[in-house]
Amino acid sequence: MEILKSRIQAIDSEGKSLSVLGVKVVTAADTLIEDPEGSAIPFSRLHSGWKVKVKGTLGEDGALQAAEIKVRTTAEYRSGRELNSAIRSLERRIETRTDVLNYLASWHSYRSYLEIGVADPRRNFDRIQVPLKVGVDPSPRGQLRLRTSSDDFFKLIDSDATSRFDLIFIDGLHLEQQVLRDVHNSLAHLAFNGTLVLHDCNPPDEKYQVEDPGGPGAWTGTVWKAFARLRMTRHDLCMYVVDVDWGVGVITRGHQELFTPMINGELTYDLLEQHRKRLLNVISVDEFVAARAQWRADSSGER
Ligand SMILES: C[S@@+](CC[C@H](N)C(=O)[O-])C[C@H]1O[C@@H](n2cnc3c(N)ncnc32)[C@H](O)[C@@H]1O
Repeated sequence: MEILKSRIQAIDSEGKSLSVLGVKVVTAADTLIEDPEGSAIPFSRLHSGWKVKVKGTLGEDGALQAAEIKVRTTAEYRSGRELNSAIRSLERRIETRTDVLNYLASWHSYRSYLEIGVADPRRNFDRIQVPLKVGVDPSPRGQLRLRTSSDDFFKLIDSDATSRFDLIFIDGLHLEQQVLRDVHNSLAHLAFNGTLVLHDCNPPDEKYQVEDPGGPGAWTGTVWKAFARLRMTRHDLCMYVVDVDWGVGVITRGHQELFTPMINGELTYDLLEQHRKRLLNVISVDEFVAARAQWRADSSGER
């Protein structure tokens, strides 16, 4: 039995293997991953940089087939107990986009966050409980280092393949084509177990979903159309809208049944009214919380 003790150097893009001390570590379906308190944690909670002790057998291909992975304490590590208590307290009150983002961040122990469209950072950005945060906005209403559009930001980081975020919040220019571009670019810079969140996906009335923001007051723009297009075309994504705060869309890599209503290309508000639940896959907060529990059961079953 070989034993490796060091930091995780990298996790592959599908999250199925790790590299520790330059050795590829492959996990068996029933590998126990133990946190410093002895609780079992899902594979998806591992992060590069964490210290681990891996026991396993070295195969002829040079890869270590892990029989046991133990997480050793690191400064950024939040124990299973700490996380569970943070999750329980968030579960009791999910009312805004910020609550949804923090809930996802706690669930997955996310460490990096990108917000596209920050406006006043005190309203959401400053409240996100993730250690590494980047905000992008061409005309923010507060202090922000990156005063630029999302398109220019992605051009800037495109050459850096290692530049990946765990959680990306898309809340910039609320127009269908821009949102589609933001989703496309964000997916290219999303960590393997990362999540995209979109604001304003579920306009409650036609007057909010126009192209022109017009003036002061609520405006969702045509974000819903971008979300619906992806629901109709991307079977490789898992998507739903949590029914709070004008519709908080959640996208991860995965699988979904496509919803393909008979339309001739155009997405009209009538179509949204007729098929809102299926077109956007709208779920309640209770369903959102229950889906997390199911996700955890599924992801530990897969290992
Ligand atoms: C609805 S506000 C963001 C609100 C903030 N995310 C929150 O939760 O409180 C939209 C912001 O997107 C910014 N924005 C507009 N076009 C953008 C673009 N192309 N890229 C990034 N941000 C953009 C605007 O300047 C505005 O501040």
